[in-house]
Amino acid sequence: MSSRTSPRSKRILRSILNLEDFERVTRSRLPRAVFGYVEGGADDGEACRHNRDVFRSLRMVPRVLRDVSQCNLQTTLFGRTYAAPYIVAPMGASAVVGFNADNAMARAARRANIPFVLSANSITPIEEMARTYPEAWFAAYQHPDERNIVDMCHRVSGAGLSVYMLTADVPVASNRENNVRAGYTMPLRPSVRLSVDAALHPRWLIGTLLRTIRHRGIPRISNFDPTSRPTIFSKTLGGVTGHASFSWRQAEVVRRNWKGPFVIKGLLSPEDARIAREIGADGIVVSNHGGRQLDSAVSPIEVLAAIKAESGTMTVLADSGFRRGTDVLKGMALGADAILIGRPFLYAATLAGEQGVARAIALLAREIGIDLALLGVATPGDVSADMLLGQLPSAAAANAPRKADPLRIIRT
Ligand SMILES: Cc1cc2nc3c(=O)[nH]c(=O)nc-3n(C[C@H](O)[C@H](O)[C@H](O)COP(=O)(O)O)c2cc1C
Repeated sequence: MSSRTSPRSKRILRSILNLEDFERVTRSRLPRAVFGYVEGGADDGEACRHNRDVFRSLRMVPRVLRDVSQCNLQTTLFGRTYAAPYIVAPMGASAVVGFNADNAMARAARRANIPFVLSANSITPIEEMARTYPEAWFAAYQHPDERNIVDMCHRVSGAGLSVYMLTADVPVASNRENNVRAGYTMPLRPSVRLSVDAALHPRWLIGTLLRTIRHRGIPRISNFDPTSRPTIFSKTLGGVTGHASFSWRQAEVVRRNWKGPFVIKGLLSPEDARIAREIGADGIVVSNHGGRQLDSAVSPIEVLAAIKAESGTMTVLADSGFRRGTDVLKGMALGADAILIGRPFLYAATLAGEQGVARAIALLAREIGIDLALLGVATPGDVSADMLLGQLPSAAAANAPRKADPLRIIRT
C-alpha cells in the first residue's frame, strides 16, 4: 500500500475480505444522497435484488484429481491479453463519489492489466484518461446527430482510447425514487437537505468535494459531447442519459466512423444481439445496468446462453450483480468472455483510492484462482455449462434455444 494511504485506511482495507465488504464500509462515509446514487436501482430495487438471487440459484459441479497446479486467469479481448477476465465498468460522476475516482480506478486497472471503461458522464476528460491509461475503453451516451457522432469518434480515437462502447439501455432516465427521497439530482440542485447531509460527512465534504473543487474547479461532465463541458449544476445538462431518438441507424453511424473494436452495452434480448452482429459490432455487454434502468428486467445470467447462440464471432461481455469469483465463472460458463463489475470498484476508490481498487482487483483474482482449482479446471474459459446445476427463475431461460441451453439447468 502506498504511504499516502492513511494507517486507518490501511487497517480498514485489511479487514475487507470480499467485494461486498466495500459497500458495507463505505455506506457510513458518504452522504446519504451520494451513497444512494451509487447503491440504488430503479423503482422498487427488484432488479438489483434479482441480480444477486440468480447466482444463488445456480450451483456448480466440481471435478477432481485434474492437476490444477497451473491455473491461469489470462483473458484475451479484442486482440489484447489481460491478466484476468473482469473489467472496471463505466460509472458516471464517479469523481463526485470519491476524490479523483476515475483516475484511481484506471491506475489500479492498468497496473493489474485489466480493462477500465471511462463513462461519457465522467468528470474526467477523455484526454486526461488517455494519459492515465492510454488504452482505456470509452462508453458513450451521445446525441443522435451524425456530425456529433463523427466528431465524438474522432475525439476518442484522437486521444488514443482503444474500445468504443455505446451504452444502449438509457434512452431516458429511469425512475430512481431513492434519489428523489435522498435529494440526489443531476444537474445537482443545492438544498438545505443536501447541505446538512454533506455537513454530517465532513470526510467526504473536505476530502472529496472541496478537494475536487480546489484541484479542478466546479466538476464538469466532460465526455458527453465532442466539445461542451457543462458543470454538474448546469441546467443545460438536462439529466445525463442517452437520447430517446437514438436508434440502430445511429449505431451503424458509430460503426462506420469508429475503426477499432465497437461494443454495444445494455442488451438483454437475443434478437438485439443478432442485430448488433449484423451491423458489425465486435462485442456486446449483456447487462441490465446493475438494476438501474428497467426494474422488471431479466438478469443477464438468465439470457446469456440464448444471447451467446446469436452472437456469432462477437465478444460477449456481461455485468450486473457479479461479486464473487464463482459469479464470474458462472457467467463465463454461460457464454461470457469476461465480466464487468461496477459499484464495488467505485466504493473501493472512495475508501482508499488506487490502493482500495487494487485490493478489490486482487481479492477477486484470488477468489477466481481458488475457484478454478476447486472446480478442477485450468482457466476461466474451461468452465462449461455442464458444470452448472440449478434453476434459473426467469421465463427467459425457458425460451433459450435448446442447443445453447446449459445442459444441466433444470428449467422452471
Ligand atoms: C454510479 C453508477 C454510475 C453508472 N454510470 C454508467 C454510465 O455512465 N454509463 C454506463 O454505460 N453504465 C453506467 N453504469 C452501469 C455500470 O456500467 C454497470 O452496468 C453496472 O454498475 C454493473 O452492475 P454492478 O454495479 O452490480 O456490478 C453506472 C453504474 C453505477 C453504479
